[in-house]
Amino acid sequence: MVEEVMELLRCEPGRTYVDGTLGGGGHAEEILKRTAPDGILIGLDWDQEAIQIAKERLKPFGNRAKLVRENFTHLPEVLKSLGIDGVDGILLDLGLSSIQLESHSRGFRFRGEAPLDMRMDDRSPLTAADLLRTLSLQELEDILRVYGEERWASRIARAIVTEREKRPVQTTQTLSKIVYRTIPKRFQSKRIDPATRTFQALRIKVNEELENLKKILDLSWKVLKKGGRLCILSFHSLEDRIVKEGFRELERKGEMRLLTKKPLRPSEEEQMNNPRSRSAKLRGAERI
Ligand SMILES: C[S@@+](CC[C@H](N)C(=O)[O-])C[C@H]1O[C@@H](n2cnc3c(N)ncnc32)[C@H](O)[C@@H]1O
Repeated sequence: MVEEVMELLRCEPGRTYVDGTLGGGGHAEEILKRTAPDGILIGLDWDQEAIQIAKERLKPFGNRAKLVRENFTHLPEVLKSLGIDGVDGILLDLGLSSIQLESHSRGFRFRGEAPLDMRMDDRSPLTAADLLRTLSLQELEDILRVYGEERWASRIARAIVTEREKRPVQTTQTLSKIVYRTIPKRFQSKRIDPATRTFQALRIKVNEELENLKKILDLSWKVLKKGGRLCILSFHSLEDRIVKEGFRELERKGEMRLLTKKPLRPSEEEQMNNPRSRSAKLRGAERI
């Protein structure tokens, strides 16, 4: 949804924008092109690999691109360290990057065999395997139910606990096999891998994704200049609900004005060309 995002962000030369979820730098590159010759882009990602790839891609823009390996919840501190008072736009494109999703070693994919890591930031202390080893039955069930919206949460949690009493649940294959044999066959969709929800739940927990989203909604509007815009692309209903409610709250307090009463969705053509975009929802708000 690059075009829709750029329009909503209202990129203009001479202004300063933040991409809080830099990834491979696709959106950042577009922002830099549209704000030439003197716009500034501050790009944050907590994943070292993303920073390296984006650095290479954004080299042609020189000093106009300032990339920092940091959690986006530390945005105010990052801006302070760069001597920047306020920004004209902030973009968050939530979820996994294709670099992370396609990595064969980081444990985000349920196809193939890899250690159950799932940390986007490898400096953070707990991997998915650590959680599977240490959480109680009830905690596992809650995570699967709340973050995965998994109707078989209770059964899967019990199956994990039974398995870990015999051997550690440490790899993607071990975990997906537990899910495949636990969900009754007649309830296993052919279209969506039955392990999807379990993997999603663990990933959200490992990376504290929803807590981080709530935090950035609480603080990002404070670093926007008047008329500055916050645009958020989300990929599942849990995230979108938090964005919708966060924006409403900011509107109620008189801090922001909604730019999208309903979320913008990718065109049919984009959904055809890029199946991953199908669940994307884009919302925007402007600082008053
Ligand atoms: C969907 S990708 C962004 C793709 C990017 N828009 C592009 O055009 O290539 C999301 C990125 O956000 C990063 N990310 C997620 N949560 C983060 C957080 N709390 N702080 C910093 N980066 C985060 C992930 O590591 C990932 O690289």
